[in-house]
Amino acid sequence: MLVLGFETSCDETGVALFDSRRGRVRALDGLIAQALHSQVRMHEDYGGVVPELASRDHLRRTLVLARRVLASAGRVPADLDAVAYTQGPGLAGALLVGAGTATGLACALGVPAIPVHHLEGHLLSPLLAARPPAFPFVALLVSGGHTQLMRVDGIGRYDLLGESVDDAAGEAFDKSAKLLGLGYPGGPALSALARQGRAGRFRLPRPMLDSGNLDFSFSGLKTAVHLLVRANASDPGAHADIAAAVEDAITEVLTAKALRALERTGLSRLVVAGGVSANQPLRARLDRAATAQSFEVFYPELSLCTDNGAMIAFAAALRAETVHGRDYGFEVRPRWDLAALSAPAPGAPD
Ligand code: KG4
Ligand code: ZN
Repeated sequence: MLVLGFETSCDETGVALFDSRRGRVRALDGLIAQALHSQVRMHEDYGGVVPELASRDHLRRTLVLARRVLASAGRVPADLDAVAYTQGPGLAGALLVGAGTATGLACALGVPAIPVHHLEGHLLSPLLAARPPAFPFVALLVSGGHTQLMRVDGIGRYDLLGESVDDAAGEAFDKSAKLLGLGYPGGPALSALARQGRAGRFRLPRPMLDSGNLDFSFSGLKTAVHLLVRANASDPGAHADIAAAVEDAITEVLTAKALRALERTGLSRLVVAGGVSANQPLRARLDRAATAQSFEVFYPELSLCTDNGAMIAFAAALRAETVHGRDYGFEVRPRWDLAALSAPAPGAPD
């Protein structure tokens, strides 16, 4: 089946075309076209995403990108078997643009409109890599809004093992970057600055590292960063060293908790997804641990770590049999737990 997917949950308009026939042997081959428009330039003057501007820009881009994607694959709308969109979580207005566009298109074509959970898109995106993981695995989901460890036994079989009790890892990167005077989004900028610094000069707290559970806490980090920046205001070299200390603290906690999740579940495959999975020191740390402790670790392609349409079209294609939506009413879910997607176990009472 041929699925057109729309991602509009935050500040990227992503559209992609996935052909499940072509992707039968290697999922990656099913991704036949994609386009992305980032709103980063538009929001950077404000130091963060302005929801109203985000929605308006998605409106301007969705159909333009959809036409481009179809043309580059040599397909026409009548070829589509389904149209997918991110239903949540995310910014309500931004989600409504993707939901409305996709549902309108699906209605006009008489094909199903498939709502997709944004985090399920991230979670499954490593399956679109050249070396995809097999189920079951532990997933470390690290984005701008979420930090979660999940046990994944198959499509739609997700158990939450632990999550952040306050800020997400991406948020910790972004807020620390802001305190260091870096632009938005802060993760890549902080990581670039950290490369010029020494991680050992400052020691930042590792909240909940020894909590004994699989939860995270990152909100204390920004207070510690704020104090360090203030105390070293007269030292021009301090910012790079602070950035290195921030990255060191975040990646150490993420790695330690992911290892603990593998130990608790007895699984030997770890999948890392979401924007922060693009972070090279995190990958290096996890790769070292994987070699030392004999587990396998999988990441999305770098271009599919942050928000994109490919993961939405792909997740919808994997779920298509379970969706029968042709009434074309739709709703968005700005807040939505991924674990709520898990189908009841076979034979379980309703
Ligand atoms: O998954 P994503 O694109 O959007 C959400 O669903 O939230 O993740 C965006 C987050 C931002 O917080 C951004 O700073 C972070 O991912 N990020 C990074 C890197 N690239 C993106 N954080 C650290 N290092 C990176 N290289
Ligand atoms: Zn995301």
